Amino acid sequence: MTYETILTEVHGRVGLVRLNRPKALNALNSQLLHELMDALEAFDRDQAIGAMVVSGSEKAFAAGADIKQMATASAVEMLTNDFIPAFDRIRGIKKPVIAAVAGWALGGGCELALSCDMIVAAENARFGQPEITIGVIPGAGGTQRLTRAVGKALAMEMVLNNRTLSAEEALRYGMVNRVVPVERYLEVALELAAEIAARAPLAVRLAKEMVNQAFETGLSDGLADERRAFTLLFATQDQKEGMAAFIEKREPRWEGK
Ligand code: CAA
Repeated sequence: MTYETILTEVHGRVGLVRLNRPKALNALNSQLLHELMDALEAFDRDQAIGAMVVSGSEKAFAAGADIKQMATASAVEMLTNDFIPAFDRIRGIKKPVIAAVAGWALGGGCELALSCDMIVAAENARFGQPEITIGVIPGAGGTQRLTRAVGKALAMEMVLNNRTLSAEEALRYGMVNRVVPVERYLEVALELAAEIAARAPLAVRLAKEMVNQAFETGLSDGLADERRAFTLLFATQDQKEGMAAFIEKREPRWEGK
């Protein structure tokens, strides 16, 4: 595939997608969003890939949905075009996706980071939902995922009054996994992805599915689903190998079977 608004790289078992509209601070237009999702889906299908990283530049992860593309749209156009639905495609990705965030992660950029499974933030990362300043509200999960991530009080302030979070604040409120110097944020995200990509693939897949399930169901249904997923893994070679390797005091060799 050739892409115009993103760059893709493979680092061992990790697929990296870099958002690449530097002049627009990686504002998410329709083309970029579809290219990003196409690339993630291609990595998801690729047996040689175990995890993915999405990053932007040191100045901006993404400064939001492309305001210039949306400015004159009608409600009917926004309802019927495939822009907002494109954000949802990330929910179908089975392998772990880590956002490596430096600089601005605003509006749709913050929502994209929150749609990933983990966030590694550079010290200069800045998270916010400034849609209220342009007469709208978040449209790609900001009111929902942000509230689940940081709680009602702070989400209200961010969404209603454009309060932004520094990387350290985002860490304190449990929104990001770690904060690292700007020079190392991508390397750290790639290392984290490589560690996960080296683990038992089927267990990783079900683990991601089950953690996400915690946001969808009540506790009893979630626990029942978890029990079924746990039991299912006893049908895999990797479970036999993992437990045998522990008992024999050696490293396991995962087959993804
Ligand atoms: N859409 C389109 N273009 C954007 C953009 C966006 N979201 N953000 C930045 N740009 C463009 C600017 O228009 C500018 O282009 P020109 O050089 O052609 O004028 C270029 O990127 C550089 O931006 P600035 O000159 O503004 O850079 P700055 O360093 O002074 O400010 C900023 C950086 C604070 C991030 C500022 O650009 C900004 O506030 N951007 C908009 C943030 C925003 O409101 N995002 C929410 C979008 S709506 C949304 O995301 C809806 C949703 O939920 C899906």
